[in-house]
Amino acid sequence: MKPLPHSALSRRSFLAASAAAGAALPFRGALADNPNSFVLRAAQDRARLVPESWGETDIWCYGGTVPGPEIRIRQGERLRIEVENALNEETTVHWHGVRVPNAMDGVPHLTQQPIAPGGRFTYEFDAMDAGTFWYHPHQRSFEQVGRGLYGALIIEEAEPPRVDRDLVWVLDDWRLTEEAEIAGGFGGFHDKSHAGRLGNTVTINGRVPDQVAVRGGERIRLRLINAANARIFALDFGALTPQVIALDGQPVAPHAPGGRGWVLIGPAMRVDLILDMTGAPGERVTVSDRFHTGNNFQLVDLTYADEPLRDASPDWPVQLSPNPLPEPDLNSARRHEVTFTGGMMGGMAMREMGITSEGRMMGNDMMGMMHGEDIWFVNGTAARGHILDPLLVLERNRSHVVAMTNATAFHHPIHLHGHSFRLLSRNGQPTTHREWQDTVLMAPREQVEIAFVADNPGDWMFHCHILEHQAGGMMGVIRVA
Ligand code: C2O
Ligand code: CU
Repeated sequence: MKPLPHSALSRRSFLAASAAAGAALPFRGALADNPNSFVLRAAQDRARLVPESWGETDIWCYGGTVPGPEIRIRQGERLRIEVENALNEETTVHWHGVRVPNAMDGVPHLTQQPIAPGGRFTYEFDAMDAGTFWYHPHQRSFEQVGRGLYGALIIEEAEPPRVDRDLVWVLDDWRLTEEAEIAGGFGGFHDKSHAGRLGNTVTINGRVPDQVAVRGGERIRLRLINAANARIFALDFGALTPQVIALDGQPVAPHAPGGRGWVLIGPAMRVDLILDMTGAPGERVTVSDRFHTGNNFQLVDLTYADEPLRDASPDWPVQLSPNPLPEPDLNSARRHEVTFTGGMMGGMAMREMGITSEGRMMGNDMMGMMHGEDIWFVNGTAARGHILDPLLVLERNRSHVVAMTNATAFHHPIHLHGHSFRLLSRNGQPTTHREWQDTVLMAPREQVEIAFVADNPGDWMFHCHILEHQAGGMMGVIRVA
């Protein structure tokens, strides 16, 4: 598998300008009397991911584009989406991060029958929370999402903070051949047992980006969505000082990104930033990814126009109003433990953490692992398929704390369906912002505690969003009853 001679990882050589990073048109469905009605057709297609010197790429996508049509509605409105399956295999659509009724969650066999080739299914739900969400299949996600089936779902606040531009960047990472076609081998054992299917070409809104024009004094709300199967980004905005205003769609006290000021975003996660363009006319600022030491790359340049928009950054307020999430009561909360094990070097990670192997986690499952099936374990069980005995049964309308331990040598973005949770602590240290999230990125050997009110009845998926890890067993069901 060779990287493209001029892949995103050596993007400097591109001359082609791309408007793709700038704007995606909000999409309106066919029914004039219901502006919140959409039709999404999943099908094979061709798209231009890379500059003109290469050809187009065979992809799978919604509505003929990658990302699929941007769905944008107002908080409190009802959304109706008719999905048509023109693929040659079954599919479903999951509304990632949106608190939907269980039957609308798009999990094959668990919440609905998969949509057969040629079939249709209508999803309908109320948009309770404002924020940045996304949609993708939940059937063979590692290949369906990996080939381009995904799109942004933006639920606007009743009174959004004032900005000059609202930009959505859906990030993806593709493994392309030298002919710019998608390389095969989805779900291969090496990807499953290591860090997932990492690619060689990073796109913003389905296109290798060249540059984005900005103006001095301009204020941009940048909504980042990581739709990659496996790539974690740590975005360095150079001279700019981004302010984080929402995580996974949920408002957070505005703050500069922690650590070195890099915006950390694992697969499936979203980060809303306020970016004040503080540079001078003609300058450019490079956005780089620094997650993989030794494999940093320049994602895109922001290029200042000759005329500034205004002389100084505006002082408009940036704080978002909270969404109507029930506050967990930690005093009465029930406590649950979840331990993740497995993967390459998993035994070593467990020994280092003093975790002993019990039953399935290590013994006989090394056999399964050698056959490429059971690789990752949640409380000792590797999932096969979506029909599972619940890993936890949570009493409805009660508060619950789930203490999670990553006893593996890899990062994992852990996602819970149907709920948002507060991130209480990392390695025993309380978090500064007690952020609401639906996907929490756990570092190797890290422990985190989350808390939420289990107010949404049903069987909910709980899984790693590195899609090869999910396929390798890192998935379970949490029942709210
Ligand atoms: Cu984004 Cu279970 O999914
Ligand atoms: Cu994982």
